[in-house]
Amino acid sequence: MIDKISLDYENDYYHLGSKLNDNFTYLFNLEQTLNKPYNYIYGYFENKKLLGFIHIILTIDEADIVNIVVDDYYRKKGIGKKLVEYTIKKFNLKALNLEVRQSNEAVIFYQKMGFKIVRKIPNYYHNEDAYFMKKTI
Ligand SMILES: CC(C)(COP(=O)(O)OP(=O)(O)OC[C@H]1O[C@@H](n2cnc3c(N)ncnc32)[C@H](O)[C@@H]1OP(=O)(O)O)[C@@H](O)C(=O)NCCC(=O)NCCS
Repeated sequence: MIDKISLDYENDYYHLGSKLNDNFTYLFNLEQTLNKPYNYIYGYFENKKLLGFIHIILTIDEADIVNIVVDDYYRKKGIGKKLVEYTIKKFNLKALNLEVRQSNEAVIFYQKMGFKIVRKIPNYYHNEDAYFMKKTI
């Protein structure tokens, strides 16, 4: 089941986020993020357990993926795909954009989901290039 994440899931959210960034708890404080306009976080739940989430920022009819993560144990079972597809449908998006570390295996995931590499952004992650990727719907 996919639904908005509430503060009840704060610990699970930080636990998953810690796989994305060492400073995740500080950078993506759940309460603050939920109160920011145009920010949405949807979680994938199974038996009330949070297995993954997607955080987007909505523009008019496009969105930027800020974060997407699935618990290691539940990867490659289609959860990431469901989170992306749900978001597109929910907001009737015309496009989805993101930046990803060039070396991240997620690049393959995004390509499978129909994202194209638009350009390389040099040193986006201080010492590593990023790809700016876009999926047009
Ligand atoms: C990227 C991530 C969210 C994908 O979630 P997931 O639930 O494992 O992805 P899915 O099972 O929906 O995969 C969809 C497709 O992508 C493929 N895929 C997913 N991860 C992959 C990987 N690491 N390498 C190659 N292919 C991959 C799947 O095999 C599947 O292909 P198929 O349609 O041919 O079967 C997950 O790997 C993750 O949490 N990674 C760590 C966090 C991260 O790097 N996030 C992105 C930051 S920008």
